[in-house]
Amino acid sequence: MKLTLVLGTRPQIIKSAPFIHLASKDREIQLQIIHTGQHYDYEMTKVFFEQLDLPEPTANLSIGSGTHAEQTGKIMLRLEKILQKERSDFVVVPGDTNSTLAGALTAVKLGIPVAHVEAGARSYDMTMPEEINRRLTDHCSTLLFTPTNNCTKNLLKEGISKAKIRRTGDTMYEVLEQQLPRAERTAALERLGLEPKTYVLLTTHRPENVDNLEKLGNIIEAAIKLNSLTIVFPAHPRTEKQLRKSGLYHKILKQKHIKFTKPLGYLEMIKLIKNAKLILTDSGGMQKEAFWLKTPCLTLRDTTEWPETVKIGANVLVGTDPSKIIKNALAILEKETKIKEKLERSGNPFWIGNASEKILQAIKSFAEQKNLDDHTAARYL
Ligand code: UD1
Repeated sequence: MKLTLVLGTRPQIIKSAPFIHLASKDREIQLQIIHTGQHYDYEMTKVFFEQLDLPEPTANLSIGSGTHAEQTGKIMLRLEKILQKERSDFVVVPGDTNSTLAGALTAVKLGIPVAHVEAGARSYDMTMPEEINRRLTDHCSTLLFTPTNNCTKNLLKEGISKAKIRRTGDTMYEVLEQQLPRAERTAALERLGLEPKTYVLLTTHRPENVDNLEKLGNIIEAAIKLNSLTIVFPAHPRTEKQLRKSGLYHKILKQKHIKFTKPLGYLEMIKLIKNAKLILTDSGGMQKEAFWLKTPCLTLRDTTEWPETVKIGANVLVGTDPSKIIKNALAILEKETKIKEKLERSGNPFWIGNASEKILQAIKSFAEQKNLDDHTAARYL
């Protein structure tokens, strides 16, 4: 059977790695990887293919940056041509980016079943582009693979048929488990002149934070005031652009306690998360990685699509008010040992084992069933 995997951004490449390895080895599967080109810098895409030993994509749609409509529309137009030329049995879309939604819409409108990996996550904040992408993708998918029970519940609440949902666990945990030994061997700390458990790791890239210069200024103000700590700040290109625009860029470079860097590779980032005292982030993926690696996290947002991490006590939503960020950061660092003990004891609601294997088997058995009974299967579309 022919599977098309559509991806285009940094986190999608990472979370697809175990699935790509598995599907590539499977003799019954012909996998084509379509890279939309939403991310195109070496540090935002190629480095992950290299580090995770992934095959070159079959095609790159080279859509680049642009407005949401531009990105989504361009992907649809270019992907449609490829899917029309040679039919796929399934289109697999991971995550919640514009590439995810565009991939799902193009496929479903051609009558090709869609499999959504990381289905059911909800922040219930429709001002986030990712929330729009998640909801729409889920509602046009044939198979929905959820990382947690809470994600499954979210889908059921929205009236999505139970028959379409499979709880598989989180492929981001799967890739972390597979790659952790390699991450441990990197010299990421030495390269940045860091000792384990002596620094705070800061990332921010969400448009609602970095495109709003007041919020971005607040986050930077908090980082500057936390000058009793070393802060490592790998910046997304969107963030660097906004920092330069606002004049904050040079201010940051003058701070002796802030180590500002380009975006890091996956293995380096995992090593840095594991060895940090604390994470300050607005990334969805890093909230989970911090939890899995038992590092406390403060999320620079008011909502999260991963409430599981907050419930367990590994993650606190602090928004972007500098005094709230500073107060919570210092409070967490004071209770470090207690929090660590709690994290060591907590279970992992994101994992039930072999996520990618479950995804691949579900797609295969759905396709087999479809061949046997096209009418029944079509009802699921
Ligand atoms: C996208 C996803 C977001 C995900 C993030 C991971 C959407 C709506 N957002 O956000 O969910 O968390 O990827 O990084 O799909 N840029 C470069 N080089 C690149 C890519 C981007 O310089 O390789 C700059 C450009 O100025 C661009 C900006 O970053 O305009 C934003 O890129 P874009 O793809 O629109 O969204 P992200 O912020 O990366």
